[in-house]
Amino acid sequence: MLKVIDVYKTYKKGKQVINALNGLSFEVNENESFAIIGPNGAGKTTTIKIILNLIYPDKGKVLIFDKDVLDYNTRRYIGFAPEIPYYPLHMTAFELLKIFINIYNINIQKNKIEEYFELVKLKEFMNVPLSNYSKGMLQRFSILQAIIIEPKLLILDELTSGLDPIGQFEIIEIVKKLKGKTTILFTSHNLSEVEQICDRLVIINKGKAIFYGSILELKQKFSFNKYVLKYKVDNQIKEIEIDNLENLNIKENEIIEIKKKELSMYEIFFELITKDKN
Ligand SMILES: Nc1ncnc2c1ncn2[C@@H]1O[C@H](COP(=O)(O)OP(=O)(O)O)[C@@H](O)[C@H]1O
Ligand SMILES: [Mg+2]
Repeated sequence: MLKVIDVYKTYKKGKQVINALNGLSFEVNENESFAIIGPNGAGKTTTIKIILNLIYPDKGKVLIFDKDVLDYNTRRYIGFAPEIPYYPLHMTAFELLKIFINIYNINIQKNKIEEYFELVKLKEFMNVPLSNYSKGMLQRFSILQAIIIEPKLLILDELTSGLDPIGQFEIIEIVKKLKGKTTILFTSHNLSEVEQICDRLVIINKGKAIFYGSILELKQKFSFNKYVLKYKVDNQIKEIEIDNLENLNIKENEIIEIKKKELSMYEIFFELITKDKN
């Protein structure tokens, strides 16, 4: 449903030119959960801003259902929760949400609105000023204002950044409930959360895709050359990690088990980014 096609974007900072995106391409299928991951400065937020048409690419284009995002009607069904939400904190969540509902001209009953508040676990706090909300609650409100329009594409930038483990868990639970009901595009530095939520992902570094595919494909791609070897010496069981099975200086009868090592998302990410020489 979303196509990002060969997008380039440079920023100018005084005399310095920053190549934020260098020919980035990927596609997201309808109702799939898709992650963009990459180190700080890789170009994730720039990509999202281009999809939202907040900034324009220097080259390339973005299509939603094969229509250019330059057209307002294409963007009408995108719900967006920004990395750093700014809200008028003197208002209650319900008052502010009603403003969003009016802007989008949505016809929605109060009990349906309450269901949405329930979904993001804020129903008890509907009529509390946002100034009394914690960071996690504000983040959940941010998701609420993005989903109230029933988006066909839900974009969540830095899903759980800056939240404590409970706050992260609460957001992950909400996204799991939304998963499969709409197309979700999100960025995150929490790779265990990425693994739990996404179907496919693109890993970007310096504005280019260095991996694009499913978590399974990613793990398969990086699993070959590591082994975990369990062996016995002096009646003690030891375990070592090795890159290959040649020239082992362990006697065959001491070996208990040889397993292919399953790399964690963090190990894979580290390998990919540190070996990316371009
Ligand atoms: N408005 C801007 N002006 C100048 N440089 C920018 C601007 N926004 C982003 N950049 C630069 O572009 C690169 C990509 O940034 P960004 O898309 O925010 O990365 P990410 O979200 O992956 O951390 C970074 O080097 C960043 O410093
Ligand atoms: Mg960012």
